[in-house]
Amino acid sequence: MSERLLRGPLLHCLGEPDKDANAVEYHADALLWVKHGLVHKMGPYESLEHELTPEQSTKIEDCSQYLLVPGFVDCHIHYPQTQMIAAHGTQLLDWLTTYTFPVEASFKDPEKAAAVSKVFINQLLQNGTTTALVFCSVHSDSVDALFSEAQAHNMRIIAGKVMMDRNAPDNVLDTAQSSYDQSKQLIQRWHGVDRLQYAITPRFAPTSTDEQLKAAGRLLAEHEGVYMHTHLSENVDEIEWVKELFPKAKNYLDVYDQAGLLGKRSVFAHGIHLCDEECDRLVKTDSAIAHCPTSNLFIGSGLFPMKKLQDYGIKIGMGTDVGGGTSFSMLHTLADGYKMQQLKGHNISPEQSLYLATLGGAKALDLDDKIGSFCVGKEADFLLLDPNATDLLKFRTSHCKGWRDLWFVLQTIGDDRVIAETNVMGVVS
Ligand code: GUN
Ligand code: ZN
Repeated sequence: MSERLLRGPLLHCLGEPDKDANAVEYHADALLWVKHGLVHKMGPYESLEHELTPEQSTKIEDCSQYLLVPGFVDCHIHYPQTQMIAAHGTQLLDWLTTYTFPVEASFKDPEKAAAVSKVFINQLLQNGTTTALVFCSVHSDSVDALFSEAQAHNMRIIAGKVMMDRNAPDNVLDTAQSSYDQSKQLIQRWHGVDRLQYAITPRFAPTSTDEQLKAAGRLLAEHEGVYMHTHLSENVDEIEWVKELFPKAKNYLDVYDQAGLLGKRSVFAHGIHLCDEECDRLVKTDSAIAHCPTSNLFIGSGLFPMKKLQDYGIKIGMGTDVGGGTSFSMLHTLADGYKMQQLKGHNISPEQSLYLATLGGAKALDLDDKIGSFCVGKEADFLLLDPNATDLLKFRTSHCKGWRDLWFVLQTIGDDRVIAETNVMGVVS
């Protein structure tokens, strides 16, 4: 279908609500006009009505009982960890050895990788996530499997092969040279194909030698437009370990900085325990942080200093971090993010939450010219949210006073049942 016309309430961000009082746009009765997968026109229905032919008018889809919002952007998630979500009882370093490495080793089998890719992409779509930045396993085939599945759904997915050459079992290790060679081949095979993009993916400083991190830096310098995706400053034991492993580095971020891994397409998951110097470098290099509240709470990593990082001007997106995170749902992720900031004495507004899950995520991924809002020309990745999805929601939302109240209730007590329809480039997926 090359054209769609949807009429109903519509909500999106044009900028960052914490910085701009007019950043959020709401139309109680909007027309969203999609052509060839892009937003062709969008505005109040009455202002666009006269542009429609009688035939087009008959094709309008009535979305009056829904709320139209842009598709969600998940800035940090691990697809091989889908089967080990909600594993009991450990913090980061134990959790990796007890649960994560054994599961990721099983992705040596391409059939397994293909099967899990299907489950994973399905979960993203069911939860309204239309763009994600994804860790694969150390195996090149795991990347092929994920990209093939994403391509079949025409999704915007950024992903890469994990690079790790020490401090893990042999069956999940590569070498500096093999990780360079394999990542390069994958970039050539996938980066820029349809809506797929490649992220150079060193797991985190403790599982890479300096030589491997430098190889990652070379890859980044040699391939314009590719991403860099890793973990940073998540857990206090991890930070101590990085100090021991890299005694010459000024701080954790400096390990990556020395290897040339910072930049506007570099995304660091977590960043909970950063010092001022690290915050300065993140801003100066236009690097982004993926904040993953369900994971930080579940594996006990700490409370993210959102206000401090925002005040620095660091780009922040939201990540589910499945399987350290406990949900594929961006609504759950926002809800836990809100509660975490309550504990820090910081109040995230409903507008700011919407921004973090959509345009803010797009900015963190340097994709805000393509996704994150309904501005004309952008890719038509969008959702229909159902305020009546459950008995409780139906009752609660009948008492809402306006869109702000409604969106916050959906975020706080909603889940995948709220996602009535996920559209990828204008196609129901
Ligand atoms: N740090 C290094 N690897 C991982 C991982 O798989 N998940 C999380 N949450 N942190 C990590
Ligand atoms: Zn992670």
